[in-house]
Amino acid sequence: MLEIAIERDQPAAEFYADLTSAAAALVDSEPDTIANMANVAALIWQYMPELNWAGFYRIMDGELVLGPFQGKVACIRIAIGEGVCGTAAASGLVQRVADVDAFPGHIACDTESRSELVIPILRNGSVIAVLDLDSPLPDRFGPQDEAGMVKLIGAIANSLG
Ligand code: SME
Repeated sequence: MLEIAIERDQPAAEFYADLTSAAAALVDSEPDTIANMANVAALIWQYMPELNWAGFYRIMDGELVLGPFQGKVACIRIAIGEGVCGTAAASGLVQRVADVDAFPGHIACDTESRSELVIPILRNGSVIAVLDLDSPLPDRFGPQDEAGMVKLIGAIANSLG
C-alpha cells in the first residue's frame, strides 16, 4: 500500500512539489482513468485546506460529465462554454476565479462556493477533462496554487485520459 505523508505547513512551491510526487506515485502503472481521477481527487481533498469540492469533469459526447470527486453531490452535465468549468473546457485556459458571483454564468452547484480554480486537462492538444477546485472562502486560490496545480496536472495528464 502507498504511504503518503505531505507536510501542509510548508511554502507553496514545496507543498505542490510534494503533492505532485504523491499524485504521480498514485497513478504510476495504473491504466484506469477513473481509478486515477478518484485517487487524485481524494489526495487533493485530503491535503488542500479550505476546499468544499475537488474533482473532475470529463468531456463526453461534446459536454462535460461529472467524474470522480470529493465533496457534496454536484451538477452532472455542463455544456462546453457554460460556467467556470465549461469556460475552461471551451478555451483550454485555466480559470482562477476570486469571486464566483462576479463570473458571468457561474453554475452554483453548491451555494457555499465563493472562489474556484479550474485546470483544463489536455491530450494531443485537445481538452479531455477539467479539474475543478471550489472553496467556501473568497479568493482562496492564488497564483502559486494555479502554478502548482498546472504542474501537477501536467505531470499526470497521460494517466487521466
Ligand atoms: N461551479 C462550477 C460547476 C461545477 S461545481 O461547482 C462542482 C462552474 O461554474 O463551472
